[in-house]
Amino acid sequence: MRTKLIAGNWKMHGSKPFIESLMKGMTEQLDANLKSGVLVCPPTIYIPLVESLIGSHKIALGGQNLSEQAQGAYTGEISGDMLKDSGCQYVIVGHSERRSLYGETDVLVAHKVGKAIESELTPILCVGETLEQREKGTTMQVVQQQLDAVIDTLGIDALKQVVVAYEPVWAIGTGVTASPEQAQEVHSAIRAHLRDKNAQIAEEIKILYGGSMKAANAEELLAQPDIDGGLIGGASLKADEFIAICKIAG
Ligand code: PGA
Repeated sequence: MRTKLIAGNWKMHGSKPFIESLMKGMTEQLDANLKSGVLVCPPTIYIPLVESLIGSHKIALGGQNLSEQAQGAYTGEISGDMLKDSGCQYVIVGHSERRSLYGETDVLVAHKVGKAIESELTPILCVGETLEQREKGTTMQVVQQQLDAVIDTLGIDALKQVVVAYEPVWAIGTGVTASPEQAQEVHSAIRAHLRDKNAQIAEEIKILYGGSMKAANAEELLAQPDIDGGLIGGASLKADEFIAICKIAG
């Protein structure tokens, strides 16, 4: 049985006072009996602050990116070990904004996934098609290529330690959500693709949906058999919205 994971991707938002109030709102409303995992991924510099605000609450901490290198003269970069050392259990890898704005290729993303695993972090590997690719009918080709880059580089067994996030690029930050049917179709195709390589991994891997998920649409998305949680941007910056999604996940 896969448990659900609700992950907040704060992107480059926030300030100390904003984060203090967001975390206060979240910790006050979070139900300690929740079965689903709850995760927040703040901007790197605020990770220690967020760790201290989490205290004993059941909220995991994650980075938004990591270097493909272990250590060395890489000015401005953050390693997996540093994230781990700072209390992170997860790291988002290959978010579409990293791919499109910072030129991260499928191969680079695969190396980052490998580095995350070496640092004993759970990578949240983001995959997803652009609107143009969807309209051309190449959605599954694109998603499979993004997954296969990781499998070819690290081997299928690496996916035992990976969470996948399907995030259609056209749904990110746009307010346009994939319909539950559209999302389920891709999630189930991802699982089918993995089943060909390893049935157990396909069954056990968590596949999150991301792209304008909010309290108002979370219920029908999370009810889909192959949707195991959400990677949430905008709505994770509002304590009430984010906690409402966590409660829906159960
Ligand atoms: P959004 O972002 O929820 O604001 O669409 C999701 C993401 O980019 O992970």
